[in-house]
Amino acid sequence: KKDVRILAYESSCDETSTAVIKNGRDIESLIVATQIKSHQRFGGVVPEVASRHHIEVISQITKEALSEANCTWKDIDAIAVTYGPGLVGALLIGVSAAKAASMATGIPLIGVDHIMGHIMAAQLKDEIEYPALALQVSGGHTEIVLLKDPVHFEIIGDTRDDAAGEAYDKIGRVLGVNYPAGKTIDAWAHEGKDTFNFPRAMMEDDDYDFSFSGLKSAFINTCHHADQIHEKLNKYDLAASFQAAVIDVLAHKTIRAIKQYKPKTFIMGGGVAANHGLRDRMSAEIAKLPKQDQPKVILPDIKLCGDNAAMIGAVAYNLYNDGQFADLTLNADPSLEL
Ligand code: KG4
Ligand code: ZN
Repeated sequence: KKDVRILAYESSCDETSTAVIKNGRDIESLIVATQIKSHQRFGGVVPEVASRHHIEVISQITKEALSEANCTWKDIDAIAVTYGPGLVGALLIGVSAAKAASMATGIPLIGVDHIMGHIMAAQLKDEIEYPALALQVSGGHTEIVLLKDPVHFEIIGDTRDDAAGEAYDKIGRVLGVNYPAGKTIDAWAHEGKDTFNFPRAMMEDDDYDFSFSGLKSAFINTCHHADQIHEKLNKYDLAASFQAAVIDVLAHKTIRAIKQYKPKTFIMGGGVAANHGLRDRMSAEIAKLPKQDQPKVILPDIKLCGDNAAMIGAVAYNLYNDGQFADLTLNADPSLEL
C-alpha cells in the first residue's frame, strides 16, 4: 500500500503550525510558531494580533515543513487545514494558505475540526482501538467524546459554562500568573495541599456534563475576601485546592463513562491533557478497574497536547481514507461544532 503524506496547517488561535504527517502516524516534520509573548501583556489572546502574526510566518513555515520532511509538493497527497472552531481572523489565514496551495498544485484539500485534532493527537503516539472514549480538555472546550471509528463519534458530555483550561487561565489571573496559566498552576499545585475544599459541581449528577464557573467564582471570592481582611493565602495551597476540584470532577465523570461505554481505548487530548495531576489521576483510576474493563490508555506527548498541525494531519489521514475532501468553497467556521 502506498504511503499517504499530508501537509497540515493549524492557525485557530495563537500558534501558527505546519507539519508533514505520513500515514496519519509518523511526524516527518512539525513547526510551531508560538505568539504567546505578544499576547501576554494583554492577559489573553488579542485576535488582530494573532491574525497578523499568522500572516507573517505562514509562507515561511510551509517551506520549512516541506524541507524538514525532505519533501516537495510532488510528495504531498493532501493538504489539510483547521477550519474551526477558533478565532475567525486567525482561522482564515490557515484556510486561505491551504486553499491557495491546493489551487496552485492541484493537491486535494481536507478541512479539519480543531477539537477532533486534539483528540487524534493520541493517534500520533499509538494505535487507537475502537470504540474509543476521549476526554478532550482545552482552553475552549471540555468534552467526553465516544468514537465508534476514526470518523464517527458522539459527544456524551460537555461543559455547561467555562472550559477547564479557561478556568485555569481565569484563576491564574487572580494569582498574577501570566496567560496561559495552566502549566504554572499545575506546578504550584504539586507544592501545596487541598486545604480550601472548593465545590465539585455536578459531580454526583448522572450525566456526563461539567460546570466550572462555580468553582472559578468560589476561588475568586476566597481570594477577594482574604484581601479585604488583609490575610495572605498560600498560593500553593490555593492552586492545589483548585486543581484537586477540577481533577476530581473530570476523573469521576470520565471513569463513570468508561464503566458504561466500555471503550477499548481511552484517550486524553487538549492543552489541559498536559496537566500532570490529571494524567496521573486518570492512569491510576483506570488501573483500579477490573482487568477486563481496563481500556488501553493513550496520553499524547505533552508537546502535542497544545495546538499543533501534526494532530490536524492525523485527523486528515482518517478523512482521506474515508473520502472526505473539501473544495475551494471551504471557509473558516469560528463556531464549528464536532
Ligand atoms: O488546547 P489548547 O492549546 O488551546 C485550545 O484549543 O484551547 O489549550 C490551551 C489551554 C490553556 O487554557 C492553558 O492554560 C491550558 O490549556 N493548559 C493547562 C496546562 N497546560 C496548558 N492546564 C492545566 N495544566 C497544564 N499543565
Ligand atoms: Zn486547541
